[in-house]
Amino acid sequence: MRIDEIPTPAPIIDIDALDRNLELMAGRLPGQTLRPHVKAHKCTALAARQSAHGHTSFTCATPREVIGMMEAGVGDELLLANQVVDVTRLRAISNAREQSGALVHVAVDSTETIDAAAQGGITHVVIDVEVGMPRCGVRPEHAAALADYARRAGLEISGVMGYEGHLQMVTDVAEKEAKVADAMRQLRQAHDDVGGAIVSAGGTGTHTFHHIGLDHPTGVTDVQAGSYALLDTQYATLQQGFEQALIILGTVISTTARRCVADVGLKSLGMDHGNPTIADHSVWFCSDEHITFSSADEAPRAKVGDRVAVTPAHIDPTLAMHPVAWVVRDGEVIDRWEIDLRYW
Ligand SMILES: Cc1ncc(COP(=O)(O)O)c(C=O)c1O
Repeated sequence: MRIDEIPTPAPIIDIDALDRNLELMAGRLPGQTLRPHVKAHKCTALAARQSAHGHTSFTCATPREVIGMMEAGVGDELLLANQVVDVTRLRAISNAREQSGALVHVAVDSTETIDAAAQGGITHVVIDVEVGMPRCGVRPEHAAALADYARRAGLEISGVMGYEGHLQMVTDVAEKEAKVADAMRQLRQAHDDVGGAIVSAGGTGTHTFHHIGLDHPTGVTDVQAGSYALLDTQYATLQQGFEQALIILGTVISTTARRCVADVGLKSLGMDHGNPTIADHSVWFCSDEHITFSSADEAPRAKVGDRVAVTPAHIDPTLAMHPVAWVVRDGEVIDRWEIDLRYW
């Protein structure tokens, strides 16, 4: 099957670009020093490819991602880097873990999440530490008391995690270095009080700013990057050597002298990081099922029926909208990967 025969809108993965990204990252953060975050793609086939590049520990954002990874037999260690109070879902994770034999750590940041983990049969937890981004996590000075509470609840403390999401897009190198170091100092302070083998942090935007190893005063054991695999237009601006390996393929369905409209809209694109891009064209806006764009001065005008490659600004919510991604090499479809870790 050729790429032009795929029904649109459809996510298309450029397998060679993906492999180059995986190789580049595996060179920088080999083996267990990278804990790839599957939330970026929600696809066990892609995770298996990351595993083939040497990464056997993964990060997940939802119970479904943890369970789906175990069902697919990908990875032998999974960190649910998110808070869950739903005991039924935690129990489902425990049941799947008993079947698969994988080691599962669940993030906690309150007595409530600890109680839920214990009731759900979870054995290992990491204390989630807030290192500057106002989302989940306890402040470092409260980590020790929480770890004591978890131990009394019969849970083993695997270590700490802290996600410095607010620093991913900082562009000034010296500023980023200083701020990441400061965030990691806070995480290490919590780790000193809590113990455990894991100090997990970081993302695509900060992965080159982390020191690996606890010998370094702000070092971590592993980095949780995920977006690097497929990249998006927002992260591409950081110019870290990764390529955009995912587009949403659309079909032009209407044109006038000034503008073109294709069938790629808000329902097939994550828009929280801004408009997507179309090479040599300027995107006007997206609505539910449409993208309106115009040609750049010199570019040939698109005609009704033409195919158009729309590059998303944010990969994670984009892929989560699609049941399947088409895997392509040189215009030829070579595989179809289910986005099988969707939902919660
Ligand atoms: C807990 C956590 N860790 C790591 C990441 C890093 O992901 P990315 O590779 O997109 O920077 C994220 C992204 O939101 C996250 O929520």
